[in-house]
Order: sequence, then structure tokens, then C-alpha cells
Amino acid sequence: MNDQILPMLPPDIDVETKAVLRQLAKANRALAELKGYAESIPNKHILINAIMINEAKDSSAIENIITTHDELFKAMSSNSEVKPNAKEVINYRTALWRGYDLVKTQDILTINNVMEIQAIIEKNRAGIRKLPGTVLRNEISGETVYTPPVGETLIRDLLSNLEKYINEDIHDIDPLIKLAIIHYQFEAIHPFYDGNGRTGRIINVLYLVLKKLLDSPILYLSRYIIRNKSAYYRLLQDVRTSNNWAEWIVYILKGIEETAEETLRLAKLINTEVDIMCTEIKVKLPKIYSKELVELLFYEFYTKTIYIEKGLSVTRKTAVSYLTSLEKEGFLISERIGQERIYQNKRLYDLVKYHQ
Ligand SMILES: Nc1ncnc2c1ncn2[C@@H]1O[C@H](COP(=O)(O)OP(=O)(O)OP(=O)(O)O)[C@@H](O)[C@H]1O
Ligand SMILES: [Mg+2]
Repeated sequence: MNDQILPMLPPDIDVETKAVLRQLAKANRALAELKGYAESIPNKHILINAIMINEAKDSSAIENIITTHDELFKAMSSNSEVKPNAKEVINYRTALWRGYDLVKTQDILTINNVMEIQAIIEKNRAGIRKLPGTVLRNEISGETVYTPPVGETLIRDLLSNLEKYINEDIHDIDPLIKLAIIHYQFEAIHPFYDGNGRTGRIINVLYLVLKKLLDSPILYLSRYIIRNKSAYYRLLQDVRTSNNWAEWIVYILKGIEETAEETLRLAKLINTEVDIMCTEIKVKLPKIYSKELVELLFYEFYTKTIYIEKGLSVTRKTAVSYLTSLEKEGFLISERIGQERIYQNKRLYDLVKYHQ
């Protein structure tokens, strides 16, 4: 079964079964609600940043790159003492932002873009696989479950077929169904020596943005995949061995539905927290309150004197006094990391960290 050649897209059967269409309606509804809400909030960057850091952490965890929010917080806020796993997660986030910029500016998702994303994740330029020997193994038993296509020419042919499928909508299939098909095909081509899973998960969100189903990159399936990991691997395998597209597509559509709902809840919580903090700072520190100041406090999990200085165009002395007052009133917790003092927005940090 492993030497079977990987067929080009589109799939040779009708994938729009009753079960698929039923789940499709639910996924589209949940996604549209998330999109609508996210578009209505003023400072989108706050939301994107908070959600993206969780995704970077979760997606990397699938590859057993485990880190903690605390290590990430330190890695983001300073260059010193960065743990290797935290560094990898930060690379993933950089790759996500880069991919998002590319799709937003070019309105197309090319294989070259995908290669650039993978190179950022892996921090190397090995590019498309040239040598044989890459196999996918069962995580537990270690047995080979699949040998992806071998040979650079074949891989490039499959990728250009995939690129067309991504960018040209000639088959009149709903984009969410296509997302599931694209994810399968990308993983089955397995074009790189490593990082295929993470790159494929970034393609998912970029595709949503490309098809205008989301404006901001805020929907990620990694946490859902972690929770349903054995089904993820089994269903990928089932497409190949039994042409069982429908079950795989339903799995992904369910993930989109669940995740859109969860993300919407988190988005609302973050927004509410911004409002609460505005109200409280207005009361406790009326002299320094401004909406811009509060937004700066939510821009990342932490802030530094320089960000306040620049963001509000105030002197260093003023920025320090603002931060000191905010800490005194319990809005921030400061910590010395390396040469710098970092002020953590503990409320935002806890919201994002404990949100399930
Ligand atoms: N049987 C299979 N058929 C097709 N694709 C598979 C199969 N088993 C696993 N995969 C895909 O391969 C990915 C792992 O590939 P690779 O190690 O190159 O990526 P990674 O990003 O380094 O790892 P990970 O996905 O574990 O984070 C999995 O995430 C999954 O998407
Ligand atoms: Mg790997």
C-alpha cells in the first residue's frame, strides 16, 4: 500500500456527502459569527497576538516541542536566556505573521510562499526533499505507515497541482471542504524533510484569509488536533487506503466549528477585560488614563518603558512614572529580565493561558 502513487487533486469521488454538507453548514455558521465579531472590535492586533501565541505553542506541541507560557513570555520580552523550545515557538509565530503578510499583500498563496514559511519554522533552507528516506511512522509502535512521494520532480509536480487547486476555484466546492482536502494533500505530499505538519497547519489559516472567510489570522486547529490526535492520524491514513474523504472532511469541519466557538468566547473575554481595565484605571488613576495607554498594555502580555514612551509620545520619565503607578495599583507586575524591566499584564496573561 505504501508504493501506491499519490493522486493529483481534485479527488476522484463526490466528497459532498450528506454528513459533510450537514457539518459544513455548522462550520460556516460558527466561522461567520467569529469573523463578524472580530471585525467589529477596534484593536484587532490585541486579539491576533493573544490567539497566535497559543497557536504557536499548541502547534509546536504536536511536534513535541513543549514549552510553557512563562518561558514564552520571557522569550518574547528579552533576548537573553531563551530556551530552545521557546525559540522554536517564537519562530513559528514569526512564520505565521510572515505568511499572513504575504497572503494579504499578494492575494494568492503560492508554493514559494509556503517554502518561505517552512524555512522560517525550521530556520534552514533545505527546501523541497531531494533525497529518499523520509517515512511517516506510527508514533507508538514506530512502524512505517506511509512513505511519501520520492523525487524532487514528482514532488514539484504534485505541489504545482496543489497550488492550482488552492488558487483557482474551478470545481465549485465550498472553501471549507477544500481546506480539508488541501491539508490532506499537503501532508501526503510531505514536501519537506521536516516541519510539514506545522507548515500545513499554517496553510489552513492562510487559506481562510485568502478566501476571505476571516480577515485576521485567528482560527487554528492545533488544539483540536491535540485533543483528537489519534483520529487525526487515522483519518489521514484512511483517505489514502480507503479513499475515505468524507470522514476526514467531517473531522476538519467539526474542528472548524468547535474552534470558531472557542475563539469567539476568548475574543469576547479579552475585549471585556480591556473594557474593565479602562474603567478601573479611569477611577484609580484618572490623571494618566487614556484608551491608548490601556491598549498598549494589551498589545502583548507585557510592556516596557520604551513602548509606553513611543506609543504615547511621552518622555522616559513620564513613561516610568505611569508604569510605576500602574504596578502600584495592581494592574501590572514587573520583573527584571536581563538588563530590562518588563511589566506583565497578568490578567491578559492568565486569560490566554487558562483559556481552553
Ligand atoms: N499517515 C499520514 N498520512 C499523511 N500525513 C501524515 C500521516 N501521519 C502524519 N502525517 C502528517 O505529518 C505531520 C508530521 O510531519 P513533520 O514531522 O514533517 O512535521 P512537523 O511539523 O515537524 O511535525 P508535527 O506535525 O508532528 O508537528 C503530521 O502533523 C501530519 O500532518
Ligand atoms: Mg517533525
